Amino acid sequence: MRDTFYVTTPIYYVNGAPHIGHAYTTVVADALRRFHSLRGRRARFLTGTDEHGLKIEREAAARGMKPLDFATENADRFRALWPLLGVAPDDFIRTTEARHIAGVQKWWQTCAARGDIYLGRYKGLYCVACEGYKTEKELLDGGLCPVHERPVETLEEETYFFRLSKYQDALLKLFRETSFIQPETRRNEMIAFVEQGLEDLSISRTSFEWGIKVPGDPRHVVYVWFDALFNYRTALEADPALEAFWPPTVQLVAKDIVRFHTVYWPAFLMSAGLPLPETVFSHGYLLSAGRKTSKTPGQGGPAAVSYTTNPAKLVDALGADVLRYYLLRDVVFGNDSEFQVPNVIARARAELAETVGNLLNRTLPFVTRVFDGRVPSVDAALCGEREAELVAHGARVAVDSGALWETFAHHRAIELCLELARLGNQYFDTQAPWKLAKSEADRARLGTVIAHVLAVVRTVATMLAPVIPVKAAAMLGQLGLQLEAREGHDAWPAALTFVPAGTAIAPGEPVFLKYDAQTEAELLAALKADEPAAATPAAPEAPKVDAPVAEIAFDDFAKVDLRLGTVLSAEKVPKKDMLLKLSVDLGEAAGPRTIVSGIALAYKPEALVGKQVVVVANLAPRDFGKGLVSHGMLLACGPKESLGVATFDRAFAPGTRVK
Ligand code: MSP
Repeated sequence: MRDTFYVTTPIYYVNGAPHIGHAYTTVVADALRRFHSLRGRRARFLTGTDEHGLKIEREAAARGMKPLDFATENADRFRALWPLLGVAPDDFIRTTEARHIAGVQKWWQTCAARGDIYLGRYKGLYCVACEGYKTEKELLDGGLCPVHERPVETLEEETYFFRLSKYQDALLKLFRETSFIQPETRRNEMIAFVEQGLEDLSISRTSFEWGIKVPGDPRHVVYVWFDALFNYRTALEADPALEAFWPPTVQLVAKDIVRFHTVYWPAFLMSAGLPLPETVFSHGYLLSAGRKTSKTPGQGGPAAVSYTTNPAKLVDALGADVLRYYLLRDVVFGNDSEFQVPNVIARARAELAETVGNLLNRTLPFVTRVFDGRVPSVDAALCGEREAELVAHGARVAVDSGALWETFAHHRAIELCLELARLGNQYFDTQAPWKLAKSEADRARLGTVIAHVLAVVRTVATMLAPVIPVKAAAMLGQLGLQLEAREGHDAWPAALTFVPAGTAIAPGEPVFLKYDAQTEAELLAALKADEPAAATPAAPEAPKVDAPVAEIAFDDFAKVDLRLGTVLSAEKVPKKDMLLKLSVDLGEAAGPRTIVSGIALAYKPEALVGKQVVVVANLAPRDFGKGLVSHGMLLACGPKESLGVATFDRAFAPGTRVK
């Protein structure tokens, strides 16, 4: 094993705020970084933001902002979130930084000098959300991108190609003979993908401006993935001392971008003559009510109540370590997992408070009362089978959980720590220190028991430090200890590790909140999603004339942005009799909007397609649950079974303002 460790997360798109899915990958990277530094390795962790490309250019334009200002605003939101989560990257790279731009141009020239880049023409189906071309075969019904379920666009342009096809055999060899792709399922998928044959890859664009200029041909900007992938390398290049970290030990991604990282990326690196990352690990999705969590507000599961998936709000209510614990312990690394706020609390209560915290809380009072606040010593003559069992189990857990971390099975490593803490609690129960404390004659035996329990707490707290850094330090602090990660010094326990006899303990407030019923209810109330899904939208009921509404000033009316829109598609919403989900073109650069309208009793979906409707375009989005969010409202009137939507007696361009 190398004595350096380099972990990366994807660099996140800056077209929106960070959500729990971004937090997930980044927390795992942070925990890995902490684990490896605890082992005495020189460890480094990189994250950052991906700021070029059509998607960002369009989103910025839709807000009337310059792309860089828009990117900066969102990059700052990512940067600000990480410390709240106890996440401490060694570097944060933005693809708009000069160091990155220069690096990408240099690597482009290197690949070109190898004869791997040539000029040609490309026509294809492009998904702006993916920033990638799709084949016909991949598309869902209706020509939708399989990842984003949004329409793709036909693009034709002069482009530079990268000779990806040249690397097909080398990639297959890499996949088959090394553990470059993990886990196994993803490896098999990528082998199957490459076996189908690789075409050369279009790596420049002329259709938009917001990107890095191709060296020697400023009409072209570098394809955003060629640009973005090199961040992992350009971030090390300013300082020669960082060269030791290359290649990355592990690059974390979710399965949405596994192809970019396991096919394109190693091919670029082979062309550039750079050593390849040891592993690209593709983890699963955090799901919210069965859907990948995303920038739209999430739902908290099958129950009617939905909870926020906003990481800052979750941290605010629950604390960083509790959220980290859940993400690292509950989610099997590599599998999809439903993100459920009640489960975050349940884990924290049962495992952190009632198992690990309890062990500490019930033991320290004996040290204070009987041993003057100093850790007692072990009397070897008084140790029996139970102590031997505890010591042996502790050693096994220390070794096994360390090995599990090394192989990206931290969720199992944490489970072993819990088992040890449970054994510690059983030992405490069976040895009944409260009985031993009654007689002076049992003092040495009591000291031996307490010392063993404290050894369990110390060992467990040390092994949980990568997961819950603040709480682990607090537990160790109460034991009078400090955890120090130093290069060249392996601080991971090799065995059940005793607290040196005589150490002055420093008891304080319980480290973990107990989460009684009232606290839990308050937390759940605080974490409810802002706009719980309404079963059905309000619709006018009776044919009678509605009561007049209070007078408003013209200025107030002018605040309502009414626009003409063309309905592109319409479909029923499962289990919601009144609702239709419409895709409406408002002439916006960002593409058509989804609008959910309570008109299903009056209109068949197909009757609406092509119709021009009047849309309240600046209404706050409304969340109908299960990932369905409405971005606007149609004007309509009449009883719900026979209502009519407002329209005009002649056609206008979509997006025309209605005044
Ligand atoms: N900018 C590209 C990556 C370029 S890397 C050279 C990108 N950005 S992204 O903002 O869409 O982030 C995708 C990544 O965020 C996923 O690969 C994953 O790491 C993380 N996740 C986003 N949503 C997630 C879930 N719902 N669940 C788990 N991980 C999630 O793709």
